[in-house]
Amino acid sequence: MIERILPRFVVGVDAFRDLPQASLHPLEALVVRHAVGARRREFATGRWCAKQALAGLHIPEGPLLPGPHHAPRWPEGVVGSITHCAGYRAAAVARSSDVRMLSVDAEPHAPLPPGVLESIALPEELAMVRELRIASPGTHWDRLLFSMKETVYKAWYPATARRLEFEDARITINVSAAAFSAQVLVPSPLRQHRRPLDRLNGRWLVSGGLVMAVLAVPAADPMVPAAGHLVPAAPGALP
Ligand SMILES: CC(C)(COP(=O)(O)OP(=O)(O)OC[C@H]1O[C@@H](n2cnc3c(N)ncnc32)[C@H](O)[C@@H]1OP(=O)(O)O)[C@@H](O)C(=O)NCCC(=O)NCCS
Repeated sequence: MIERILPRFVVGVDAFRDLPQASLHPLEALVVRHAVGARRREFATGRWCAKQALAGLHIPEGPLLPGPHHAPRWPEGVVGSITHCAGYRAAAVARSSDVRMLSVDAEPHAPLPPGVLESIALPEELAMVRELRIASPGTHWDRLLFSMKETVYKAWYPATARRLEFEDARITINVSAAAFSAQVLVPSPLRQHRRPLDRLNGRWLVSGGLVMAVLAVPAADPMVPAAGHLVPAAPGALP
């Protein structure tokens, strides 16, 4: 399923149940030694997906240990992200020479618990969700908004070592393009082509009882001449 929304250069692998072949490196096993069985299995299958995806980039296998604030430490020259929710585990990776920031998030396609939308959404986002609910009532837009915000956090933290609150990013959903953009509202320490990198673009998908969001920032702006050539964006590449 994840392959359906990944941009070019990104390799993704997913699983719809925990896999018996998902064994942990001893150092990874130490991380979850005190966790309940369900968490150990979820962690192991997420790692399995990540290692399969890394193999797709021809990166040799090694332990994927968590760093500060639980963000996975990817091999040198790699960006990546792991997600899991009931009935789904996935990971996506890319070479950092191709993709600068990358994150994935999956959630059950169900309404958020009462009160959660109001606690995570900015006033403009609440208005957007209200409008989307009228225009397209079959989609749980509140859950999608939540998932998109999680991708912003999971892309921003590894790139900046700064944690974002829910009110620190404003999401705009483009329904017809199955895309979204996130405006980060705190000062950005990141620059791209001398401009602050504070607007992130992504894609979303609703399928099989799940919602999924992916954020990817290309390493190079596809419209900026590189080494004297224009690099064309592939059809379907993220903006
Ligand atoms: C960390 C967080 C984003 C995880 O999201 P989630 O939907 O609960 O869970 P998911 O299964 O999708 O993702 C969990 C995975 O994210 C990854 N992750 C955890 N912390 C991370 C971080 N700081 N940076 C990047 N990735 C992280 C891990 O790989 C983790 O799985 P693992 O522990 O098995 O390795 C969420 O729990 C959280 O703390 N959010 C902070 C608040 C927020 O999202 N603000 C929005 C700002 S706009």
